[in-house]
Amino acid sequence: MDKDTAIKIVDLYKNFGSQNVLNGINLEIKHGEITVIIGKSGGGKSVLMKHLISLLKPDMGEIWIDGVDITKLKERELNEVRKKFGMLFQEAALFDSMNVIDNVAFPLREHTKLPEKEIIRLAEEKLKNVGLSGFGYKMPSELSGGMKKRVGLARALINDPDIILFDEPTSALDPIISLTILDLIKETQERFKKTYVIISHDILGMFRIAHKVAMLYNGKIIEYGTPENVKKSENEEVKEFLKATGIPGFVGGVL
Ligand SMILES: Nc1ncnc2c1ncn2[C@@H]1O[C@H](COP(=O)(O)OP(=O)(O)OP(=O)(O)O)[C@@H](O)[C@H]1O
Ligand SMILES: [Mg+2]
Repeated sequence: MDKDTAIKIVDLYKNFGSQNVLNGINLEIKHGEITVIIGKSGGGKSVLMKHLISLLKPDMGEIWIDGVDITKLKERELNEVRKKFGMLFQEAALFDSMNVIDNVAFPLREHTKLPEKEIIRLAEEKLKNVGLSGFGYKMPSELSGGMKKRVGLARALINDPDIILFDEPTSALDPIISLTILDLIKETQERFKKTYVIISHDILGMFRIAHKVAMLYNGKIIEYGTPENVKKSENEEVKEFLKATGIPGFVGGVL
C-alpha cells in the first residue's frame, strides 16, 4: 500500500439477497484529501461507506487502513480502528436520549481523558462552528432535520479524527447553511489536512471542495480523478450523470 494511501479498497463485493450492490469496488483514497463519492440514488454509496467502518461486512474483498485489512478484524480490534474515524450518517443518527451537547461531546468522553470542563468548552465551540450556539441543551427531538445534521457534523469533527466520513452533509439544509457547511468542511480540512470521504448529491458544491471525485455505477467505481478530469470524462455513464447537474465548464453534455 502506497504511503500516501489512507484507505485501499480491493475487489469489494456485497449482495443483499439476490441484489448485487457492490460488485468489485477498487478505490484508493489518499491521505489528506477530500474524496467525494457520487452516483445515483440507491446505487450503494451509503453501503460502501458503512463498510469503511465495518458496520457492514463484505461478501468478498479487502479494506486496508494503516496496513491492516479491517474486514478480517474482530469486534474488539475494530473498536480501536473506529477511534480513527469520525462519521456523519445520512440520517444524522443522534442519540435521542441525550441532549445536543452530550451528543457532540460523546466521542471525547469515549476516547479521551479530557477534563469535563474542557469537553464542554470544545463541544460548545463546535456547535458554534455549525451555527448552533445556544442549542446545546435541546433534545434531538426538538430540532429540525437540518439542525440534527449539523449536530451530527459537529460530533463527527470534535475529536479531530484521522478519517472523516460524511454521508450527505448538506442534504436537508437551506442553500445558505449549505454553503456555510461546505466552507466549514473545506476550512477544517485545509487546517488539519485529515482524510475526508464525502458522499453527496450536491455535485456543484462538492466539485468546488473535492480533491478527488469517484463515481460509483453498477457496483463499481467507473471514474476517479480530480474534479477537472472527471468533468472531462469520456465515460458515457459519467457524462450522463453530470449532464443533469449544470456544472460550469462541463463539456460532455448539452451546455
Ligand atoms: N441493510 C440492508 N439490507 C438490505 N438492503 C440494503 C441494506 N442497506 C442498503 N440496502 C440496499 O442497497 C442498495 C444501496 O443502498 P444505499 O443506501 O447504499 O444507496 P445510496 O447510493 O446511498 O442511495 P442514496 O443516494 O439514495 O442515499 C439499495 O437498494 C438498498 O435498498
Ligand atoms: Mg445514501
